Amino acid sequence: MSEPTHPPIRPLSDSDARQAAAAILRAGGLVAFATETVYGLGADATDETAAARIFEAKGRPRFNPLISHVADVEAAFALGAATLAARAVAEAFWPGPLTLVLRRAAGCPIAWLTSAGLETVAIRVPGSADARALLAEVGRPVAAPSANRSGRVSPTTAGHVAAEDFEHLELILDGGACAVGLESTVLDVSGARPRLLRPGSVTREQIEAVVGAIDIVGHDAAITAPGMLASHYAPAAPVRLAATTIRTGEVGLDFAGQIGGEIDLSPSGDLVEAAARLFSGLRALDRPGGATIAVAPVPEVGLGAAINDRLRRAAAPRG
Ligand code: TXA
Ligand code: MG
Repeated sequence: MSEPTHPPIRPLSDSDARQAAAAILRAGGLVAFATETVYGLGADATDETAAARIFEAKGRPRFNPLISHVADVEAAFALGAATLAARAVAEAFWPGPLTLVLRRAAGCPIAWLTSAGLETVAIRVPGSADARALLAEVGRPVAAPSANRSGRVSPTTAGHVAAEDFEHLELILDGGACAVGLESTVLDVSGARPRLLRPGSVTREQIEAVVGAIDIVGHDAAITAPGMLASHYAPAAPVRLAATTIRTGEVGLDFAGQIGGEIDLSPSGDLVEAAARLFSGLRALDRPGGATIAVAPVPEVGLGAAINDRLRRAAAPRG
C-alpha cells in the first residue's frame, strides 16, 4: 500500500458531521476540528485515557497542560473560578482567540493529565460558531492542542492535519482556512494580577485596556528555567526514581508489576495507560510531609519519554 491514508474529512458546518464527531469524542476517540486560531486535535478533557492519546499521537516529549474548549462562558466558569479579572476579559474577548488559566473549581471534571497535575485549568471559548456548535453537541470540555506532530508547525487547513497522518485520529472536521492562523493568547487570571503566558492575536494592549497593567511571563522560560517550575505539578513528598524495590517507609508507584507498589500505572505495561494515570497516581500517593514515593523504571520508548521527563521533574531537588 503506497497511498497515505487519513481519516474522513467532513465539513464542520454540517450538523450530521458534528454529531458523528461528538459521538467519537464522548467514546474517548480523537477528532481534529477547525477553530479560528488553528486546527485542534481534540479529545474528551475529562477522560484521562483520551487525553493520553493526544500526547501519544502528537509524539510530545513531555506533558504540557492542555487547553479545554467549551461552548460558552457559563460552561467555562463551571470548570474554573471566575475572578474579577477573568469575568472582565471573558466579557471582552470571548468567544475568541483567548485562553484563560483559572483555579480549578470544586468538582471540576477535567482529568489530571489534561491539566498536567496543576491546580489550575486552561479554558477557551473559541470564536468559531461551528466549533462552539460541536462543543455544545459534545456537552463536555474538549482538550485540543494544535493538530500537528510535536515540533512541526500548527495546521491551518484540514489538508495540513491530514498530512500529519495521526494514529487513532478518527475524523477531521473541515472549517476552511483558519482566520487567525496563530494559537490563542494565554492569560493566567488565577492569581492577584493577570499574567500573559503566551502572546497571541489578543494583544497585551487590548487586555490592559480592560484590566489594567498585567505581568508578562516568558513562556518558554517557564518551561526550561529551573526557578520557574511553579507551573509544573511537584509532589510534596520526595520522589525516588528507578526503584527496583520499595524501601521501609516508602510508598510505591509501580509499572508493570515490577516492585509491588500500592499503585501500578499499568499492570500490563501499556504506556498509554501509564501516561493516563501518571498524575492521578502521583497525587494519590502524595501526602504532605509524607513518605518518599519510590517509582519503578518506565521504558524510555514512545510515551515513556514524556512519562520519564515528568518523573524527573517530580524528583528534581526543590529550591
Ligand atoms: O489556539 C489555541 O489555543 C489552540 C486551538 C486548537 O484552540 N490550542 C492550543 O492548545 O494551542 P495547547 O494545549 O497546545 O496550548 C496549551 C498552552 C500551553 O502553552 C500551556 O503551557 C498553556 O496553554 N497552559 C495550559 N494549561 C495551563 C495551566 N494550567 N497553567 C499555565 N499554562 C497552561
Ligand atoms: Mg502547538
